[in-house]
Amino acid sequence: MGQSSFDFYNPTEIRYGAGVLSTLPALTQCLGIESALLVCDPGIIKAGLVDRVANVLKAANIPFTIFSDIESDPEVRSVDEGVRVARAARVDGVIGVGGGSALDTAKAIAIMLTNEGTIRDYFGIDKIKVQGAPVIAIPTTAGTGSEVTVWSVLSDTENNVKANIGSYLNCPRIALLDPELTTTLPAAITAATGMDALTHAIESYVNKAAHVFSESVAEKSIALIANNLRLAVLQGDNIEARGNMLIASTLAGMSFNRIRLGLAHAFALPLGNLFHIPHGLVNSIMLTPVMKFNLPGNLAYYAKVAELFGERISNLSVREAAERSVLAVHQLKQDIGLTKTLADFNVSEDRFDEIIDEAMRSGNVPVNPRMPTRADMRQLLMQAMTGEI
Ligand SMILES: [Fe+2]
Repeated sequence: MGQSSFDFYNPTEIRYGAGVLSTLPALTQCLGIESALLVCDPGIIKAGLVDRVANVLKAANIPFTIFSDIESDPEVRSVDEGVRVARAARVDGVIGVGGGSALDTAKAIAIMLTNEGTIRDYFGIDKIKVQGAPVIAIPTTAGTGSEVTVWSVLSDTENNVKANIGSYLNCPRIALLDPELTTTLPAAITAATGMDALTHAIESYVNKAAHVFSESVAEKSIALIANNLRLAVLQGDNIEARGNMLIASTLAGMSFNRIRLGLAHAFALPLGNLFHIPHGLVNSIMLTPVMKFNLPGNLAYYAKVAELFGERISNLSVREAAERSVLAVHQLKQDIGLTKTLADFNVSEDRFDEIIDEAMRSGNVPVNPRMPTRADMRQLLMQAMTGEI
């Protein structure tokens, strides 16, 4: 909302294009990587995407070791194990291939190749001491933005917490955005991860820490998602739609990188932890009720969101135009088949206090355009139980 002072730093080099994966060997050489740890999850191996990356490295005689012991909510244990494998193989760089889990883990492993102690020592903001080993991030979903962000989100099951690591030193050196790697992503995952990207873009666009640079990239991200997510879901092989979604999710990552998000993401953490609702889905469920609640806190920007979605707002009041943004996002969710509610994931009212306790502790609450009470948070959960808007 036009902050008078801010910082905006995006140290990740972006390489975009269909087929740009073929430049990976040259990029590893540029970064001085002589032997790489290839970090991915088992699903990415099954989808044949790791083979595509591995074949490019093999053809260029670049040695690599695959590490794929990663869950959908990446664990501290995976980082510890990945570091052990990386040290044993004497790698000097990390290539992350996959969605947010793989990229977050790849970044954290790279940090631990040059910093002392364990990854737990670096939970929090700006705790990392020195630059990690170089990371090339290759996203195979269009959602997380992890390929350009300061964040790694890890589950620490031993201590039963989910922890954020946030530092400019955690940004990958290169984000390799190749839409050809996303065309086989199933429709349901395309939809959910795309809604994660949209939630990043909208929450950072309307939040209290937004500034002219974050807003500019968020606006472009929202417009790209409004115009391309349907086609990416409904025509998986549409390379233009896939490419635009990949660009949109990276732009959204650049937008929220340091200014954080809002209430949908505050809820996403406990709802993901307690009920194992995939991150994109939980954001999709929470986004519309949160938008409706937030409207009075930033009517003008929500009106702009409606415009970016192609709503005709010229004869409407700002309030009416802002309300159209909620309907536009709801319509998008319907079109891409995201109609589930919290009740479909066995969330029940007797767990609300537990959910709200954790959500209220999130760093995403203070920047939300409207400060919620516990009663407000309860109301938002109630709406998300039924899907009413
Ligand atoms: Fe997210």
